[in-house]
Amino acid sequence: MKIIESVKELRKTRKEITGKAGFVPTMGALHRGHLELIKKSTEICDTTIASIFVNPTQFGKDEDYDKYPRTLDNDLQICEENGVDIVFKPKKEDIYPLSNPKVGFRISEELGNILCGKSRPGHFEGVAQVVSILFNIVDPDIAVFGEKDYQQLAIIKEMTSSLRYDTEIVAVPIIREPGGLAMSSRNRYLTPKEKELAGNILKVMEGVKVKAEEARFDRRALPVEFIESEAASRLTELIPDCKVDYVEIRNTNDLTKGRFLARDSRIFAAIFIGKTRLIDNLYIGV
Ligand code: PAF
Repeated sequence: MKIIESVKELRKTRKEITGKAGFVPTMGALHRGHLELIKKSTEICDTTIASIFVNPTQFGKDEDYDKYPRTLDNDLQICEENGVDIVFKPKKEDIYPLSNPKVGFRISEELGNILCGKSRPGHFEGVAQVVSILFNIVDPDIAVFGEKDYQQLAIIKEMTSSLRYDTEIVAVPIIREPGGLAMSSRNRYLTPKEKELAGNILKVMEGVKVKAEEARFDRRALPVEFIESEAASRLTELIPDCKVDYVEIRNTNDLTKGRFLARDSRIFAAIFIGKTRLIDNLYIGV
């Protein structure tokens, strides 16, 4: 496995790759969710490039950029053992040569101003910015992203298609801890008890799915807002002291919202346990 730090060397190595180049962008602190992304890339591509870069521009000023877990040695070992061919590990100045980077994709309001885009202003602008710069450097045939960050995935697809990148975006389903909590680098901030309680996010979303299926069977129209507020209350009941940021039901394809539960719905949830923000989603349309 090659470890490359400079943009120039990465570009040179990229030119020598024959066959399909797969790309797995990460911020490190790799876990089983990342492993699935790497596995997908190695299955469908000839060469897999993973990047490790904690991107400052996607963190709000009161967020966890400084304390974001950095576990480089372990990350490199995981990459090596799982078939990554090249790790790209740039420094901040390699990605952002100007101190106040202005480049950025203009995300549509429909995708950018909802859910996490509303709660974390500037976050997706930072994500789109770094991913577009990484795409310019790596020039991947295929790039793999997880469905846990479902809104991020939708925005990356919009960006890739709008900017005419010659890159296919491949999505990988959420990987969960045994108790149901979606894998995330931020799960390390949780105590074992908090992790156990956080498993209830999935339980609540599954409860909504069952309700949706029953209503569909009985041909009953379910008002979305009612279901959302019921689910939010259930979360605070089951996870004492959690703060619900949002629970929303939206169309799985374009993230639009209807008044009544319809086909192809997906439930999205974001909650705080202490200072840790957790997000999750589940397809509930049948
Ligand atoms: O999903 C992530 O880990 C990050 O948002 C990404 C895509 C690597 C960009 O920094």
